[in-house]
Amino acid sequence: MSEIKTVGIVGAGVIGAGWAARALARGYDVIGWDPGPNAGEILRAKIENAWPALVKIGWAKTATPPAIRFTTDIKELAEAADFIQESAPENIELKRKLHADLDAHASADMIFASSSSGLLPSEIQADCKHPERVMIGHPFNPVYLLPLCELVGGAKTSKGTIERADAFYKTLGMHTLHVRKEVEAYLSDRLQEAMWREGMHIINEGIATPGELDASIVYGFGLRLAFMGQYKTFHLAGGNQGMRHFMKQFGPALKLPWTKLEAPDLTDELIDKIVDGCEAEAGDSTVEEWELLRDDCLIGIMQTLRQFNIASGKTLADDEATQLGKQEHTSWREGDDVAAPLALYSSAVQPNWIDYNGHMTEASYLEAFGWGSDALFRYVGIDEDYRANGNSFYTVESHINYFQEVGTGEPLRFTTQILGLDEKRMHIFHSMYHGQSGDLLATTEQMLLHVDMNAQRACPILPDVYKALQAVMASHEDMARPEQVGHQMQIKS
Ligand SMILES: NC(=O)c1ccc[n+]([C@@H]2O[C@H](COP(=O)([O-])OP(=O)(O)OC[C@H]3O[C@@H](n4cnc5c(N)ncnc54)[C@H](O)[C@@H]3O)[C@@H](O)[C@H]2O)c1
Repeated sequence: MSEIKTVGIVGAGVIGAGWAARALARGYDVIGWDPGPNAGEILRAKIENAWPALVKIGWAKTATPPAIRFTTDIKELAEAADFIQESAPENIELKRKLHADLDAHASADMIFASSSSGLLPSEIQADCKHPERVMIGHPFNPVYLLPLCELVGGAKTSKGTIERADAFYKTLGMHTLHVRKEVEAYLSDRLQEAMWREGMHIINEGIATPGELDASIVYGFGLRLAFMGQYKTFHLAGGNQGMRHFMKQFGPALKLPWTKLEAPDLTDELIDKIVDGCEAEAGDSTVEEWELLRDDCLIGIMQTLRQFNIASGKTLADDEATQLGKQEHTSWREGDDVAAPLALYSSAVQPNWIDYNGHMTEASYLEAFGWGSDALFRYVGIDEDYRANGNSFYTVESHINYFQEVGTGEPLRFTTQILGLDEKRMHIFHSMYHGQSGDLLATTEQMLLHVDMNAQRACPILPDVYKALQAVMASHEDMARPEQVGHQMQIKS
């Protein structure tokens, strides 16, 4: 398979559009195909709705989404794409025929991943001449934010297909989970459906409404699920003896049985009860309004978990390290010319950096400059390994000058100058510019101290990093000293 540049989106509904947005944010070209009326416009509108969340989480580098191609000719898509993600309706006959059609036009080694929620890949690949390239890549809604992708191979799927798809999904910042045995509904949907079915019995029997059931989740066990899942949670619930004690205490209840297992009949009355209950719970807000709120909440949860390096927060942190490591010119090598000043970091203003006036808050300038310092650290070799070794720089003094306001989604670029260096200290200066107009927006002058985090005291910079910093210092020595440096605040009389 050639390098993946263009992702083919087959079926551009809720899930297909989510894949398209995620792939675009990661710099892939996207071509879409969908037989529905106005499908191209609908796809573009859905990508636009997803984009604010992608800007907010820091993946989208532009304030608006890049253009996509849309075609009504499946052959054109199969020829233009390097990887096909199929998200057509959940119907085995339809998917089987669709994959056979794609198979007739695509190069033999191109992967077809189906987003199916529970169909067997062996059945989807049955009419393909190259069944070895067909697999399941099952995502979760909203695909542009949630990291999980379940990978399931069919009887004829090759190991190489799963491996290459795994590598591709990781470039999208996803957490891949290989379901080792081909089973219907895979792992997550089997669990989700069990809970959904049980809720339907409860609603059918008039015990609770959809809103009450949702409350029973979100104020209680739902809060734990996002970072510990069920098994780790129950292990903790067993006290010092963990799961063994928990099994002893609650295991017998499994036989009572508390749950019903068989699905209730989907009578019109039951469907009405569920739909009415969900509409009552949604209140006056539309699905689109709830989607925006859901995205904000998901980003908040993932960013919170990021600081604890757990679950989806760990995926976010690992992906961030990979992306930063991939950027060009991010690490100094002996003999490199060092730019004066360095231009290592660019970003867009994130919505959570904004205050009630619609502009960046004071705290967010520090955060943005912090990312600028992080880019400098990586350039000179201070990465996860360096920190794991117990060494880092701590900021001991900052001075920020603000020149112009800037609002959500506007592009930013940063330059960095080293003003001074000794074996334990570094004096730096960052400038923040508007990415389009080039206007100077803010500057910061900072003193950083190199520390041994275990001993909690200053210590000499390790030799390789010191060498890189000296090379930067040598290149920056002759630069003019910015007028903001050493500025003293005072009211002149
Ligand atoms: N909605 C979810 O939460 C979710 C989550 C994970 C996976 N999935 C799976 O993703 C797939 C798509 O689900 P969705 O929720 O996006 O559905 P959807 O109804 O929102 O979108 C389906 C799209 O497929 C198009 N379509 C119709 N016939 C087609 C054909 N013959 N070939 C190609 N496209 C065709 C429709 O025009 C529509 O745009 C399904 O397999 C579903 O099981 C859904």
